[in-house]
Amino acid sequence: MTLLVPLLFAAYLVLYAFALALPPFPHAAAIEQNPLQQKPQYSLDEWLQREEDIALDNLLANVAPFGRNVQDAAPGSVIASPSKEHPNYYYQWVRDAAITTSTLVDLYADDPFDPLSSKLDIILNAYASLQDELQHTKNPSGTFADLSGLGEPKFEADGTPFIGSWGRPQRDGPALRAITLMAYLRAYNASNPSLWTSDEGPDWFKPLYDPRMPANSIIKADLEYVSHYWNASGFDLWEEVQGLHFFTAMVQLRALREGAALALAFDDSGAAAWYTQQAGLLEKFLPSFWDASKGHLIETLSSARSGLDCGLLLGSLHGSPAANNTVPGTPPYAPYSDEILVSLLALVYDQRNRFPINSAPPASPEGTSPLEGVGLGRYPEDVYDGYGTTPFGGNPWFLCTSSASEILYRVAAHLQETDELEITELGMPFWEALLADAPSFADLKPGSYGSKDGLFVDVLERLRSVGDGFLEVVKKHTDAEGSLSEQFDRVTGFERGARDLTWSYGAFLQAVRARGRV
Ligand code: NOJ
Ligand code: NOJ
Repeated sequence: MTLLVPLLFAAYLVLYAFALALPPFPHAAAIEQNPLQQKPQYSLDEWLQREEDIALDNLLANVAPFGRNVQDAAPGSVIASPSKEHPNYYYQWVRDAAITTSTLVDLYADDPFDPLSSKLDIILNAYASLQDELQHTKNPSGTFADLSGLGEPKFEADGTPFIGSWGRPQRDGPALRAITLMAYLRAYNASNPSLWTSDEGPDWFKPLYDPRMPANSIIKADLEYVSHYWNASGFDLWEEVQGLHFFTAMVQLRALREGAALALAFDDSGAAAWYTQQAGLLEKFLPSFWDASKGHLIETLSSARSGLDCGLLLGSLHGSPAANNTVPGTPPYAPYSDEILVSLLALVYDQRNRFPINSAPPASPEGTSPLEGVGLGRYPEDVYDGYGTTPFGGNPWFLCTSSASEILYRVAAHLQETDELEITELGMPFWEALLADAPSFADLKPGSYGSKDGLFVDVLERLRSVGDGFLEVVKKHTDAEGSLSEQFDRVTGFERGARDLTWSYGAFLQAVRARGRV
């Protein structure tokens, strides 16, 4: 037994080295072309249009009430995946639920009177009520009395506590939930403007934020948690390492900033001042995640890992409102910040060479950029293969690959809205990679560019086409039914890990939404 493990490991290494030595992957190509798996040939636009409907349908299938995969779950729960074994993801994670519910809030906000919205309204109200219950449910992270219980990462589908051992607490959950519920409150109020200040709102409306009843006020409880615990260490979004994390800090800062504005709207000025003060401290702390010697942000402070991590992209995306921001001021490390762009570049370079399926990226008609769409995983050192852990077990993830396109689309949307592209020395490696072999590459130097400049036009075009490149990778590895699991195999490209991962659908929908704004 003791000999077997190193032997197996050695055999694995040999196979792995062998796999890496085959650049174009005839084996993988043969599997992808298996006629049984033959997929219709859609253009990216056609496919996105179809896949958008499929993704929403499959996402809602994991949400109670109404979802076909969650008939025994408590109303308002969002399970991570219908997979009950190998792996068992049939739980409600506070993070996954808040992130994917925010996609539903966006759809609701688009048109509260659309027939879909009346269904969403029921789901969102149930989500809010259930969060109130979960907050008050005593669990292994703690209780409601000192708010420690709010750091619990996951619950059973029926709303009871999960008591197994786990990486807890995780301090991003309350922040993400507050962000989602604040967006819902704003969207709801926008369609029922008199409710905000009157006492006639639906029962659930005031408890979302009620200065008079803080103990019963869901958003306020989360904001109190964030404002008191943001500088305490906890587990990262991948549930593996304890410390202080970029993703967590980014969503906490956004929650506090929006929370301060909300508190003011409800005349809770003491709380507004407190959230503003804590947000200021957190904002001063965030630059600790910039590692000048590495030239990119790092996900976890004082960690043995490289720090390159898809959590950097997700922290930027979920930490910065996409549009209709009600809080003035620019969030730090927004998708268009130099630090995020060069970190994205470093992550892409790492993952491109790490995964065999990335070694032959699809040729793009516009010419090839060193910044081409590739499958992105969580972080270089990842060993979780979707079922268990194996050496070199990490694979590309759908949600990480989608998040790269969303970053690029959001940069493009930002440039369009502001008509200003600021190129600095710090961001230069990114722009060089993006514009390599573009007509205006020769003009690239630090400075300010606007829509009248050829360089600006080229940048916009490239952001969109490279963003599409990442979605092409998602398209390529999505099965014929349009289902998205958690990961796709680094060698064969086939889906693996928890099937129908709610977050995979949510991240895809968000990326497509960002694309629509470009
Ligand atoms: C399950 C966790 O959710 C995942 O993030 C982790 O990588 C694996 N367990 C292995 O620890
Ligand atoms: C594992 C991921 O690492 C974690 O972020 C996620 O919350 C759970 N799976 C559930 O999807």
